[in-house]
This record gives sequence, C-alpha cells and structure tokens, in this order.
Amino acid sequence: MKNTLRKLSILAAVTVPLVFSGCTWFNDKPPITTLENPTRSRTLGDYEVNGKVLAQQVCATCHGLTGQSESPMFPKLAGQQKDYIVVQLKDLRDHSRSDKYAIVYMWGMARALTDKQMDELADYYSAQTPMYGEANHSTSAQAQLKRGEDIFNNGIPTAGVVACSGCHGAEGAGMAEIPRIAGQHSDYIMKQIHAYQNPEDKALMEMGGNTWAPKMYDLHRNLERGAAMNAMVANMAPEDVQAVALYLNTMNR
Ligand code: HEC
Ligand code: HEC
Repeated sequence: MKNTLRKLSILAAVTVPLVFSGCTWFNDKPPITTLENPTRSRTLGDYEVNGKVLAQQVCATCHGLTGQSESPMFPKLAGQQKDYIVVQLKDLRDHSRSDKYAIVYMWGMARALTDKQMDELADYYSAQTPMYGEANHSTSAQAQLKRGEDIFNNGIPTAGVVACSGCHGAEGAGMAEIPRIAGQHSDYIMKQIHAYQNPEDKALMEMGGNTWAPKMYDLHRNLERGAAMNAMVANMAPEDVQAVALYLNTMNR
C-alpha cells in the first residue's frame, strides 16, 4: 500500500506539471542540429541545414546533382532564374501551384523549407550551367525545329501567339520571375503548356480517386502569375506546341 502510494505520487509529480504546462517541454525542445547529428543533414525540416546541402542530398534524387535532371518528369533547374525558383517554391509551399505532379512530388518538399533555404537553393541552381538536348537530324525533325524556331522568334500572329522571345529573352534564358525555358525537357514543356491551355481541367489534378479539400483543387496557376501564359498559348495547336518544345530543348547548342 505504502509502495503503491509512493508510485502514484511519483506519477503525479511527473504528469501533473506536464498536463498543466500543455506539454510545452516537448515543443520547446530545441531542434537537433547538424553538428550534434550529421545524418540530420539528409532530412528535410532541419532549418539549420544550408540550401546547397539540401540540393545535393535531397533534391538531387530527382533534379540531378547540379540541377540537370535526366527524366523529363523532373524539370531541369540548372541555370534557372533565381527569382523564378523562389516564387515557384513559395507557390508549391502554399499549394497555389497544384497540378498532380506538383502535389505528389513537390508539396511535401516545399512545406519543409524556410524562406532562407529557398533563397540558398535558388542561388545554387541559378549558378549551374544549363544543359541542352541533342537535336535529331532527320529531315522531318529539322522541319519541326524550324517551325519551333519561327514560333519562338515570331509567334503565330493568326492564333494570337506572341513571340516567346519577347518575354523569355532571345536566348530563352528568362529574366527574374520569367523562367529559363531554353534547354528544358521538351516533354515537361509540353506538359506545362497543356496545363496553361487547360486551367479548368481538374483531371490534371486528379489523385487516384482521392477526395481532396476544395482548396487543394485550386487550379494550376489560377493566379495572376499564370495569366500571361494562359493567354499566350490558348490557341496553340498541339503540333505547334510540340515543335516549339523540341526547339527549346535543343536551342543554343
Ligand atoms: C521525388 C522527386 C523530387 C524531389 C526529391 C524534388 N523535386 Fe522538385 N519537382 C519534382 C517534380 C515532379 C516537379 C514538376 C512538378 C510539376 O510538374 O508541376 C518538380 C518541380 C520543381 C520546381 C519547379 C521547376 C519549374 O521549372 O517550374 C522547383 C523549383 C523544384 N522542383 C525544386 C526542388 C527543390 C529545391 C527540391 C529539394 C528541396 C526538390 N525540388 C526536390 C520532383 C522532385
Ligand atoms: C507575355 C510574356 C510571355 C510570353 C510572350 C511567353 N511567356 Fe512563357 N512564361 C511567362 C511567365 C511570366 C511564366 C511564368 C509563369 C508561372 O509562374 O506560371 C512563363 C512560363 C512558361 C513555361 C513554364 C516553365 C517551367 O519551368 O515550368 C513555359 C514552358 C513557357 N512559359 C513557354 C513559353 C512559350 C513556348 C512561349 C511562346 C509560344 C511563351 N512561353 C511566351 C511569360 C511569357
């Protein structure tokens, strides 16, 4: 009996302060720093890890060590505009960029990043050398590339398409919040243009039948940010989208 009472009073001594303090001891626990535990640098969510370390240890899995990704599913980030990278990461963090690949792959990543880390990540990628694709030299491919070059430099006046170079620059390198598109994977470019052409297409955002909260259905770039591109490519024919995408992938080479 005496023993049980003692156990109970010890239990009370431990739990009562925890309950009354709202368990703040746990919340106040300082984050484990990289110095204390070097393996932490491989994880997201440690605000002390530098953006460059994250780029090389976390983002590299998909975007490549220097931002030159292999798979067209993962956009190349090498030589991308710094400001563009920062605004995209913020849009991904607040879920306003929300097509299905962004949701599956990038929302979780972006949620764990601080503004400072985003800035450092953008510094890292914007300083890397962009990589261009290999052109196909067959006659039909050459004709397609010529068509793409024409669209890039002159637009398609009959379809209301303005020259891409007007905003993305003569070299396609972009400026500030306007992205580099030169060298980008052509499949990714086509996917993005498809999304800009179909801002109402919820199927683009479908996630294996899951029912998502309405906020998560925010339309891809249904913001002022995407408005320029929505208008630009609204009447572009699929073969022209393909031509300009192939041209952009190989230009400057
Ligand atoms: C598991 C794979 C994966 C990882 C890891 C990953 N990404 Fe991505 N990322 C993607 C995919 C897929 C997209 C394209 C999303 C879309 O199609 O909208 C993307 C898109 C982006 C974009 C937009 C690029 C553009 O041209 O608009 C940026 C910026 C970006 N990622 C940065 C990062 C950073 C920084 C990290 C590390 C913290 C990271 N990503 C880690 C898969 C990944
Ligand atoms: C009026 C200016 C303007 C013109 C003209 C323009 N763009 Fe854009 N483009 C933008 C802006 C701004 C963005 C970034 C929008 C965003 O954040 O979604 C963008 C984004 C893009 C992207 C997405 C890149 C990425 O990494 O996700 C592609 C691809 C693209 N543009 C291709 C083109 C092509 C091809 C043309 C010509 C047919 C063109 N753009 C003409 C302003 C323009």
